[in-house]
Amino acid sequence: MDIYYLDGKFVTEDNAMISARDLIVLRGFGVFDFLITYNKRPFHLKDHVQRLENSAAEIGLTLTHTGAEICDIVEETVRRNTHHNESNIRIVYTGGVSSDGLIPEGNGKLMVMVTPKRKLPGSWYTQGAKIITLDIERFMPGAKSTNYLTAVWAVRQARRQEAIEAVYVDRNQRILEGTTTNFYFFEHNKLVTTHSDILPGITRSVILDLMKDHFEIELRDIAKDEIKSMKEVFISASNKEVVPVIRINDTVIGDGKPGPGTRKVMQIFRAYTTAYGQGIP
Ligand SMILES: Cc1ncc(COP(=O)(O)O)c(C=O)c1O
Repeated sequence: MDIYYLDGKFVTEDNAMISARDLIVLRGFGVFDFLITYNKRPFHLKDHVQRLENSAAEIGLTLTHTGAEICDIVEETVRRNTHHNESNIRIVYTGGVSSDGLIPEGNGKLMVMVTPKRKLPGSWYTQGAKIITLDIERFMPGAKSTNYLTAVWAVRQARRQEAIEAVYVDRNQRILEGTTTNFYFFEHNKLVTTHSDILPGITRSVILDLMKDHFEIELRDIAKDEIKSMKEVFISASNKEVVPVIRINDTVIGDGKPGPGTRKVMQIFRAYTTAYGQGIP
Protein backbone atom coordinates (compact mmCIF):
# COMPACT_ATOMS: atom_id res chain seq x y z
CA MET A 1 0.00 0.00 0.00
CA ASP A 2 1.16 3.52 -0.75
CA ILE A 3 2.09 5.83 2.09
CA TYR A 4 0.85 9.43 2.05
CA TYR A 5 1.68 12.35 4.29
CA LEU A 6 -1.39 14.07 5.68
CA ASP A 7 -1.41 16.90 8.19
CA GLY A 8 1.59 15.88 10.27
CA LYS A 9 1.31 12.07 9.90
CA PHE A 10 2.35 9.36 7.47
CA VAL A 11 -0.67 7.16 6.76
CA THR A 12 -1.59 4.36 4.37
CA GLU A 13 -3.57 5.54 1.36
CA ASP A 14 -6.85 4.12 2.74
CA ASN A 15 -6.44 6.16 5.90
CA ALA A 16 -5.82 9.50 4.23
CA MET A 17 -9.01 11.35 5.20
CA ILE A 18 -9.88 15.00 5.05
CA SER A 19 -13.01 16.73 6.32
CA ALA A 20 -16.06 16.81 4.09
CA ARG A 21 -16.31 20.44 5.22
CA ASP A 22 -12.92 21.35 3.74
CA LEU A 23 -13.22 24.05 1.08
CA ILE A 24 -11.30 21.82 -1.29
CA VAL A 25 -14.28 19.44 -1.24
CA LEU A 26 -17.05 22.00 -1.09
CA ARG A 27 -15.70 24.68 -3.43
CA GLY A 28 -12.70 23.26 -5.26
CA PHE A 29 -10.60 25.78 -3.31
CA GLY A 30 -7.07 24.45 -2.93
CA VAL A 31 -3.76 24.24 -4.78
CA PHE A 32 -1.56 21.38 -5.84
CA ASP A 33 1.56 20.54 -7.74
CA PHE A 34 2.62 17.41 -9.56
CA LEU A 35 6.03 15.98 -10.32
CA ILE A 36 7.71 12.64 -10.93
CA THR A 37 10.91 10.95 -9.84
CA TYR A 38 13.88 9.93 -11.96
CA ASN A 39 15.85 7.15 -10.33
CA LYS A 40 13.76 7.92 -7.20
CA ARG A 41 14.89 11.57 -7.15
CA PRO A 42 12.01 14.09 -7.30
CA PHE A 43 12.54 16.16 -10.45
CA HIS A 44 13.10 19.89 -9.76
CA LEU A 45 11.33 19.60 -6.40
CA LYS A 46 12.24 23.12 -5.27
CA ASP A 47 10.78 24.62 -8.46
CA HIS A 48 7.53 22.70 -8.00
CA VAL A 49 7.25 23.80 -4.36
CA GLN A 50 7.98 27.38 -5.39
CA ARG A 51 5.16 27.13 -7.94
CA LEU A 52 2.85 25.72 -5.24
CA GLU A 53 3.63 28.77 -3.11
CA ASN A 54 2.96 31.08 -6.08
CA SER A 55 -0.33 29.31 -6.80
CA ALA A 56 -1.40 29.71 -3.16
CA ALA A 57 -0.47 33.41 -3.15
CA GLU A 58 -2.39 33.96 -6.37
CA ILE A 59 -5.64 32.40 -5.16
CA GLY A 60 -5.28 33.79 -1.61
CA LEU A 61 -4.61 30.55 0.28
CA THR A 62 -2.38 30.83 3.35
CA LEU A 63 0.29 28.14 3.67
CA THR A 64 1.45 27.30 7.18
CA HIS A 65 4.57 25.42 5.99
CA THR A 66 7.71 26.94 4.53
CA GLY A 67 8.94 25.77 1.15
CA ALA A 68 11.88 24.01 2.81
CA GLU A 69 9.52 22.11 5.15
CA ILE A 70 7.39 20.99 2.22
CA CYS A 71 10.50 19.79 0.34
CA ASP A 72 11.63 17.74 3.37
CA ILE A 73 8.17 16.18 3.76
CA VAL A 74 8.09 15.24 0.06
CA GLU A 75 11.56 13.64 0.25
CA GLU A 76 10.54 11.67 3.34
CA THR A 77 7.26 10.49 1.77
CA VAL A 78 9.17 9.24 -1.29
CA ARG A 79 11.61 7.40 0.99
CA ARG A 80 8.67 5.66 2.73
CA ASN A 81 7.40 4.26 -0.58
CA THR A 82 10.32 1.94 -1.25
CA HIS A 83 8.04 -0.46 -3.16
CA HIS A 84 7.84 1.98 -6.09
CA ASN A 85 10.23 1.87 -8.94
CA GLU A 86 9.46 5.47 -9.95
CA SER A 87 6.79 7.66 -8.36
CA ASN A 88 4.21 10.28 -9.20
CA ILE A 89 4.15 12.94 -6.48
CA ARG A 90 1.13 15.12 -5.83
CA ILE A 91 1.51 17.90 -3.28
CA VAL A 92 -1.92 19.18 -2.26
CA TYR A 93 -2.76 22.09 0.01
CA THR A 94 -6.43 22.22 0.94
CA GLY A 95 -8.42 25.38 1.55
CA GLY A 96 -9.29 24.17 5.06
CA VAL A 97 -12.55 24.11 7.00
CA SER A 98 -14.47 27.37 6.96
CA SER A 99 -17.25 28.32 9.37
CA ASP A 100 -19.41 29.86 6.65
CA GLY A 101 -18.39 27.32 4.02
CA LEU A 102 -16.95 30.02 1.82
CA ILE A 103 -14.28 32.28 3.32
CA PRO A 104 -10.91 30.55 4.00
CA GLU A 105 -9.68 30.77 7.59
CA GLY A 106 -6.02 29.82 7.11
CA ASN A 107 -6.33 26.28 8.44
CA GLY A 108 -5.59 24.35 5.24
CA LYS A 109 -3.97 20.93 5.34
CA LEU A 110 -0.90 19.69 3.51
CA MET A 111 -1.12 16.31 1.84
CA VAL A 112 1.62 14.55 -0.14
CA MET A 113 0.48 11.58 -2.22
CA VAL A 114 3.16 9.31 -3.65
CA THR A 115 1.86 6.74 -6.11
CA PRO A 116 3.51 4.47 -8.70
CA LYS A 117 4.46 6.25 -11.93
CA ARG A 118 2.23 5.19 -14.82
CA LYS A 119 3.70 4.18 -18.15
CA LEU A 120 2.28 6.03 -21.13
CA PRO A 121 1.80 4.48 -24.59
CA GLY A 122 5.12 4.22 -26.45
CA SER A 123 3.40 5.05 -29.75
CA TRP A 124 2.85 8.65 -28.58
CA TYR A 125 6.60 9.11 -28.67
CA THR A 126 7.51 7.04 -31.72
CA GLN A 127 4.58 7.94 -34.00
CA GLY A 128 3.28 11.16 -32.44
CA ALA A 129 -0.18 11.99 -31.15
CA LYS A 130 -3.31 13.89 -32.07
CA ILE A 131 -4.57 16.88 -30.07
CA ILE A 132 -7.62 19.12 -30.48
CA THR A 133 -8.32 22.80 -29.84
CA LEU A 134 -11.19 24.03 -27.68
CA ASP A 135 -12.43 27.57 -27.15
CA ILE A 136 -12.07 27.82 -23.37
CA GLU A 137 -10.22 30.14 -21.02
CA ARG A 138 -9.09 29.13 -17.54
CA PHE A 139 -9.71 31.39 -14.57
CA MET A 140 -6.36 32.46 -13.01
CA PRO A 141 -4.23 30.42 -15.42
CA GLY A 142 -0.99 31.15 -13.53
CA ALA A 143 -2.22 29.20 -10.49
CA LYS A 144 -2.34 25.40 -10.27
CA SER A 145 -5.63 25.32 -8.42
CA THR A 146 -7.37 22.02 -7.68
CA ASN A 147 -10.34 23.23 -9.71
CA TYR A 148 -9.78 21.36 -12.98
CA LEU A 149 -13.34 21.47 -14.22
CA THR A 150 -12.26 22.82 -17.61
CA ALA A 151 -9.57 20.15 -17.94
CA VAL A 152 -11.85 17.23 -17.08
CA TRP A 153 -14.42 18.52 -19.55
CA ALA A 154 -11.87 19.26 -22.28
CA VAL A 155 -9.98 15.97 -22.05
CA ARG A 156 -13.24 14.08 -22.41
CA GLN A 157 -13.94 16.00 -25.63
CA ALA A 158 -10.43 15.11 -26.79
CA ARG A 159 -10.85 11.39 -26.06
CA ARG A 160 -14.08 11.33 -28.06
CA GLN A 161 -12.04 12.53 -31.03
CA GLU A 162 -9.22 10.05 -30.41
CA ALA A 163 -6.91 12.81 -29.27
CA ILE A 164 -4.67 12.69 -26.20
CA GLU A 165 -4.96 16.36 -25.23
CA ALA A 166 -7.00 19.51 -25.79
CA VAL A 167 -5.37 22.94 -26.06
CA TYR A 168 -7.23 26.02 -24.94
CA VAL A 169 -7.88 28.84 -27.42
CA ASP A 170 -8.88 32.19 -25.92
CA ARG A 171 -11.35 34.86 -27.09
CA ASN A 172 -8.60 36.46 -29.20
CA GLN A 173 -8.01 33.17 -31.02
CA ARG A 174 -4.67 32.64 -29.29
CA ILE A 175 -3.51 29.12 -28.47
CA LEU A 176 -2.59 29.12 -24.78
CA GLU A 177 -1.72 25.66 -23.40
CA GLY A 178 -3.14 22.19 -23.03
CA THR A 179 -5.24 20.97 -20.10
CA THR A 180 -2.07 19.69 -18.42
CA THR A 181 0.62 20.55 -20.95
CA ASN A 182 2.44 23.47 -22.58
CA PHE A 183 2.44 23.99 -26.34
CA TYR A 184 5.35 24.60 -28.75
CA PHE A 185 6.02 24.63 -32.48
CA PHE A 186 9.00 25.09 -34.75
CA GLU A 187 9.12 27.92 -37.24
CA HIS A 188 12.12 26.94 -39.40
CA ASN A 189 14.91 26.58 -36.82
CA LYS A 190 13.12 28.69 -34.21
CA LEU A 191 11.34 27.16 -31.23
CA VAL A 192 8.18 29.13 -30.45
CA THR A 193 6.05 28.85 -27.32
CA THR A 194 3.42 30.97 -25.61
CA HIS A 195 4.45 33.47 -22.96
CA SER A 196 1.37 34.65 -21.08
CA ASP A 197 -1.93 33.50 -19.57
CA ILE A 198 -0.57 29.99 -19.03
CA LEU A 199 0.63 27.87 -16.14
CA PRO A 200 4.42 28.22 -16.30
CA GLY A 201 5.34 24.57 -16.72
CA ILE A 202 8.43 23.33 -14.93
CA THR A 203 9.12 21.04 -17.90
CA ARG A 204 8.77 24.12 -20.13
CA SER A 205 11.34 26.07 -18.14
CA VAL A 206 13.78 23.12 -18.24
CA ILE A 207 13.25 22.69 -22.00
CA LEU A 208 13.72 26.40 -22.73
CA ASP A 209 16.89 26.41 -20.68
CA LEU A 210 18.29 23.30 -22.39
CA MET A 211 17.33 24.44 -25.90
CA LYS A 212 18.80 27.93 -25.82
CA ASP A 213 22.12 26.56 -27.08
CA HIS A 214 20.44 24.61 -29.90
CA PHE A 215 17.66 26.77 -31.34
CA GLU A 216 16.60 30.36 -31.48
CA ILE A 217 13.72 30.70 -29.01
CA GLU A 218 10.74 32.99 -29.29
CA LEU A 219 8.15 33.53 -26.56
CA ARG A 220 5.08 35.11 -28.10
CA ASP A 221 1.36 34.83 -28.76
CA ILE A 222 0.48 31.96 -31.09
CA ALA A 223 -2.59 32.43 -33.27
CA LYS A 224 -4.87 29.46 -33.90
CA ASP A 225 -4.67 30.43 -37.58
CA GLU A 226 -0.99 29.51 -37.62
CA ILE A 227 -1.79 25.81 -37.16
CA LYS A 228 -2.20 25.21 -40.87
CA SER A 229 1.37 26.28 -41.60
CA MET A 230 3.03 24.55 -38.61
CA LYS A 231 5.60 21.93 -39.59
CA GLU A 232 6.44 20.57 -36.14
CA VAL A 233 4.49 20.74 -32.90
CA PHE A 234 5.01 19.18 -29.48
CA ILE A 235 3.60 19.43 -25.97
CA SER A 236 5.33 18.97 -22.64
CA ALA A 237 4.39 18.10 -19.06
CA SER A 238 5.93 16.48 -16.01
CA ASN A 239 4.23 13.13 -16.54
CA LYS A 240 4.25 13.13 -20.36
CA GLU A 241 7.68 14.74 -20.85
CA VAL A 242 7.91 15.69 -24.57
CA VAL A 243 5.19 14.34 -26.88
CA PRO A 244 5.34 15.02 -30.64
CA VAL A 245 2.02 16.20 -32.11
CA ILE A 246 1.25 15.05 -35.63
CA ARG A 247 -2.36 16.16 -35.93
CA ILE A 248 -4.37 19.10 -34.57
CA ASN A 249 -8.11 18.70 -35.17
CA ASP A 250 -8.22 17.68 -38.85
CA THR A 251 -4.91 19.25 -39.79
CA VAL A 252 -1.92 16.98 -40.30
CA ILE A 253 1.25 18.61 -39.01
CA GLY A 254 4.23 18.48 -41.39
CA ASP A 255 4.51 15.05 -42.94
CA GLY A 256 2.54 13.41 -40.10
CA LYS A 257 5.63 12.11 -38.30
CA PRO A 258 7.70 13.44 -35.39
CA GLY A 259 10.13 15.90 -36.98
CA PRO A 260 13.88 16.36 -36.44
CA GLY A 261 13.55 19.40 -34.14
CA THR A 262 11.14 17.60 -31.82
CA ARG A 263 13.26 14.46 -31.81
CA LYS A 264 16.25 16.56 -30.80
CA VAL A 265 14.27 18.12 -27.92
CA MET A 266 13.17 14.64 -26.79
CA GLN A 267 16.71 13.32 -26.91
CA ILE A 268 18.29 16.22 -25.04
CA PHE A 269 15.51 16.25 -22.44
CA ARG A 270 15.92 12.49 -21.92
CA ALA A 271 19.67 12.84 -21.44
CA TYR A 272 19.05 15.60 -18.90
CA THR A 273 16.47 13.61 -16.86
CA THR A 274 18.75 10.57 -16.84
CA ALA A 275 21.63 12.68 -15.53
CA TYR A 276 19.27 14.29 -13.03
CA GLY A 277 18.36 10.86 -11.70
CA GLN A 278 22.06 10.24 -11.17
CA GLY A 279 22.34 13.35 -9.05
CA ILE A 280 23.59 15.78 -11.72
CA PRO A 281 23.17 18.77 -11.35
C1 LIG B 1 -2.68 23.90 -17.15
C2 LIG B 1 -1.33 23.28 -17.20
N1 LIG B 1 -0.40 23.76 -18.06
C3 LIG B 1 0.84 23.24 -18.15
C4 LIG B 1 1.21 22.14 -17.37
C5 LIG B 1 2.60 21.55 -17.50
O1 LIG B 1 3.35 21.85 -16.35
P1 LIG B 1 4.57 20.95 -15.87
O2 LIG B 1 5.56 20.91 -16.98
O3 LIG B 1 5.11 21.66 -14.68
O4 LIG B 1 4.04 19.60 -15.55
C6 LIG B 1 0.28 21.61 -16.46
C7 LIG B 1 0.65 20.47 -15.62
O5 LIG B 1 -0.17 19.80 -15.08
C8 LIG B 1 -1.01 22.19 -16.38
O6 LIG B 1 -1.93 21.69 -15.53
